[in-house]
Amino acid sequence: MLFQLLLAFFSMLEIMGREKDRLNPPLLRQIHRINGYVFIGLFFVLSYYCMIFIRATHGEISSRILLHSLFAIGVILMLTTKILFIRRYRKFMSKVPAFGLTIFFLAAGLVATSGGYYLVTSAEPLPQSQELAGNQPDASQQALVEKGQELFNKWCVACHDPNSKRAGGGPGLQGILKVDKFPVSHWAATVDNVRRQLRTPFRLMPPQVHLSDEELDHIIEFLKTI
Ligand code: HEC
Repeated sequence: MLFQLLLAFFSMLEIMGREKDRLNPPLLRQIHRINGYVFIGLFFVLSYYCMIFIRATHGEISSRILLHSLFAIGVILMLTTKILFIRRYRKFMSKVPAFGLTIFFLAAGLVATSGGYYLVTSAEPLPQSQELAGNQPDASQQALVEKGQELFNKWCVACHDPNSKRAGGGPGLQGILKVDKFPVSHWAATVDNVRRQLRTPFRLMPPQVHLSDEELDHIIEFLKTI
């Protein structure tokens, strides 16, 4: 999408911003248009998956996801208006470049709050804790485990299958504290890293800010049993 943005930006500059020596304007216009439609197509496919993701968070979204969504809404409103101007309200034609530029900046914000964010956070060094969890709970912990299971069913099951390793919205979590490393992030499979994943997740998972420390403990007790 970043490439598409740059292509749209460059073709617009070439068509509208030069008086002579322009590169083939009809061809550029064609490229600009096709590029725009492919962008819209991709945009809707990605929005579909983002909406499934947001639904699974029960509306508890982080400020990054909120910002990302606002950029997306801005892009789609501006893009629709721009296309309407071009197709139907041609007197507004002179405003189109300003709209194009605004869309470019909004879409750059969109990319920065997703791809840019992952680029920065994936450069973090991996935590190297040696503590390996995976003990079976004794009878006195059973109540905690059940509580954890309830919380898991409410907050996690939409994206994680506890009974297999099959991926849904997120990886299946069966045996997640019995293996050496988490399957996606490759962090050591420790209780501390589960906590870290829930508070400041690796890449896509929304931070579980609505859960208290105590609730995290319950969920962890449950994770040890699966
Ligand atoms: C909206 C979907 C979603 C919800 C809800 C969610 N997760 Fe995740 N989770 C993910 C995704 C996606 C990943 C994989 C990380 C990635 O691809 O960026 C992940 C990764 C993880 C991991 C680490 C696995 C790895 O391989 O790195 C753990 C542990 C985990 N989640 C636990 C939980 C728990 C416990 C809850 C509930 C409190 C929860 N998740 C809620 C989507 C979700």
